[in-house]
Amino acid sequence: MKTIKLFDNLEISPIVQGFWRLNNWDMSNQDLLRFVEEAMDMGVTTFDHADVYGDYTCEALFGQIFKLKPGLREKMQLVTKCGIKMVSDKFPERKIKHYDTSYEHIIASVEQSLKNLQTDHIDLLLIHRPDPFMDPAETARAFEDLKSKGKVLNFGVSNFTRMQFEMLDWHFDWHLATNQVEISPYNLEHFQNGNIEFFLREEIRPMAWSPLSGGKIFKPEDERGIRIKNKLEEIAERIGLEDIEKVIYAWLLTHPAGIIPIVGTGKIERLKKAVQSVDIELTREQWFEIYVASMGHKVP
Ligand SMILES: NC(=O)c1ccc[n+]([C@@H]2O[C@H](COP(=O)([O-])OP(=O)(O)OC[C@H]3O[C@@H](n4cnc5c(N)ncnc54)[C@H](OP(=O)(O)O)[C@@H]3O)[C@@H](O)[C@H]2O)c1
Repeated sequence: MKTIKLFDNLEISPIVQGFWRLNNWDMSNQDLLRFVEEAMDMGVTTFDHADVYGDYTCEALFGQIFKLKPGLREKMQLVTKCGIKMVSDKFPERKIKHYDTSYEHIIASVEQSLKNLQTDHIDLLLIHRPDPFMDPAETARAFEDLKSKGKVLNFGVSNFTRMQFEMLDWHFDWHLATNQVEISPYNLEHFQNGNIEFFLREEIRPMAWSPLSGGKIFKPEDERGIRIKNKLEEIAERIGLEDIEKVIYAWLLTHPAGIIPIVGTGKIERLKKAVQSVDIELTREQWFEIYVASMGHKVP
């Protein structure tokens, strides 16, 4: 797979593997190492994490693989996030889930992520959610500090609107690398809120989380889900694909904004289907068939 150059020091794979669900996969360290190495052999070299995944456990589970294979770290790109404070037994003083993009919290969170992931640098750090109490100048100070120390090489955001992105980006003489947002046939929000147009204008490659709507697409629970699944099956059959996953990944990958899907499966054969989708092109009409099936009405 051809890598995507976001910046001079940030080249990522066109398919990213996510580790939100890692603590449910019931893998030994050796199993996880095998999964990661097989992913890398297929060209998936970028791995998405967050401090909070698995009630603050997933990063450290992943970090264990570097004990088994220390040289592996340099061959991959690690993405992680900060800014959410979950209610957790690990933080008994915390009364309510909230966001924290203060200097102190970002620095502390990154230091912990570095320990958990057993690395001395993070390739890309994202602010996980827009924080209504954010002081962007303070957040920017934390980013500059981490960048100057080489602890984080690049920065981005997640789930931000265009205005929220611009507001933070304005504070640097460099740019935020990406906005990681939910995009799938089930979630058209960013085609309709101005974000995709903004990404195209600024040449920002968005990362798409939950590309399969967290698995919901396979077991639809409402009319809309049934419509989407039927349409995906119809198109898969028409173009000779055995799986609807491939149609979904192709729907994302064919879009001119250069969407980068973050795959959430813990099964290597399912990740392989995402990788195989990179060369599948949907026609404009096929793309719209899925879009229209999701909306439930014709375009005006
Ligand atoms: N920035 C954010 O706010 C944010 C939010 C959520 C997620 N993320 C990132 O995005 C990544 C992907 O999210 P996601 O896990 O929701 O992605 P997803 O790929 O939409 O969903 C993955 C789920 O779908 C299931 N699945 C996959 N193929 C299937 C099939 N053929 N039949 C039935 N079930 C199937 C998987 O189960 P199996 O494991 O059994 O295959 C897994 O439970 C996360 O790991 C995380 O890194 C970011």
